[in-house]
Amino acid sequence: MPRPRSVYRCAECGHDHPKWAGRCEACGAWNTIAEEPITVRPDQGRAVGRRSGRSGAAAIPQPLAEVEQSRLVRWTTGIPEFDFVMGGGIVPGSMALIGGEPGIGKSTLLLQTAARLRAAGRHVLYASGEESPEQIRLRADRLVEDAGPVLVLGETRLEAIVDAAQASRAELLVLDSIQTVYTDTLESAPGSVGQVRECAARLMRFAKESGTAVFVVGHVTKGGAIAGPKTLEHIADTVLYFEGESSLDYRLLRATKNRFGSVDELGVFSMTERGLSAVANPSAVFLAARSEGTSGSAVTALMEGTRPVLVEVQALAAPSGYGTPQRVATGLDPKRLAVLLAVLERRGGASFAQLDVFVQVTAGVRLREPGADLAVAAALLSSLHNRPTPADALYLGEIGLGGEIRPIGGIERRLAEACRLGFTRAFASPRQGSQIPGLRHVPLHHVDELVRALAA
Ligand code: TYD
Ligand code: MG
Repeated sequence: MPRPRSVYRCAECGHDHPKWAGRCEACGAWNTIAEEPITVRPDQGRAVGRRSGRSGAAAIPQPLAEVEQSRLVRWTTGIPEFDFVMGGGIVPGSMALIGGEPGIGKSTLLLQTAARLRAAGRHVLYASGEESPEQIRLRADRLVEDAGPVLVLGETRLEAIVDAAQASRAELLVLDSIQTVYTDTLESAPGSVGQVRECAARLMRFAKESGTAVFVVGHVTKGGAIAGPKTLEHIADTVLYFEGESSLDYRLLRATKNRFGSVDELGVFSMTERGLSAVANPSAVFLAARSEGTSGSAVTALMEGTRPVLVEVQALAAPSGYGTPQRVATGLDPKRLAVLLAVLERRGGASFAQLDVFVQVTAGVRLREPGADLAVAAALLSSLHNRPTPADALYLGEIGLGGEIRPIGGIERRLAEACRLGFTRAFASPRQGSQIPGLRHVPLHHVDELVRALAA
């Protein structure tokens, strides 16, 4: 009879480890080690399934269905949008990087997370090189969560932080921020490329070896990317961006990389007087400020990760006072706006030549897919003719250079979300076959039909 036994085997090189480790000691690969029950045949006395070469045994492939699924443990924080973006919760032994503009709420979000995990009985350490414990206390006093039992440490030396995390048996370590810490092993200043890379690698190793979940705050550059070497994002298991206009109350949390979940998921929060609170129904919130009956507004449904979100696109076309007309795009690529204006002019006969054009998207959302083209065009035409678009209409479609309206993906989920929010008409490509009861599909072949519809 085969007798089951467990090994910790590297999926990369097949090396077996006596206990779990984050990095393979044979080939140096990260995150490749998984516990595997192996079958030992007493007659052979050696593992089955081991790669040939190392042990001399022949490799025996196995059907995928028989491969045991690794059970990923996740700690949920109870902040639904945060758990959702993380892919279902925090994975022990993982390292996540969170970037965002100053003042957006990174420290607040992580302190709330720390407080919740502490309340759930986990040991947490919040180490900050950005703020003193007194300043953190001031923030903590504002929160709904009781952050009182969270251990804090005002420290910038990485070795001291890791020692403190070990001593306090921290299961969650928050480090605010990677740019303020330094390691003794390098001479360079905190924040330098070498320091950031080395500290991140050390933290990753610490996370894997100890099973501690590590959250690291990263500053962003002017362009919005996390400052420091590109390797920083390669090292981390999860990379989150916290965005939004700091003047507005809404904050968008997005995962751009996630080894334990899908990417581009969007979590929506609002910054309140008592910390961040998750927004349960983003579409309704984004459309709440919409003033129906005003020209220059059109609604579309974006796919943010796996979730449809309805947003309003606003446009304003106004006579240009001086020389070259301005084109200002907020939340969409200015080049895409230029293309759409050219298509409307040449293919639809709607001229914006003497007009300043401003386009923006509500709540700091970005239009990152061409499926929003039709809504941008509808908002532009609506402003041009000073006629509101129908309040119950949704615009979904990509516009080609020939002026043709093209179908887009994920239509069912987008329409279902629109239907839920009371929309009754969807303007989309005729090839977009979809039947959602209660939502009428209005086929549009070409932009000139949209021009006629909105000018009439
Ligand atoms: P913070 O978490 O310090 O941002 P970051 O770490 O990304 O720089 O958030 C700071 C902003 O949030 C600041 O403008 C104050 C505001 N805020 C609230 O509005 N309500 C609150 O309960 C808290 C804690 C902060
Ligand atoms: Mg901060």
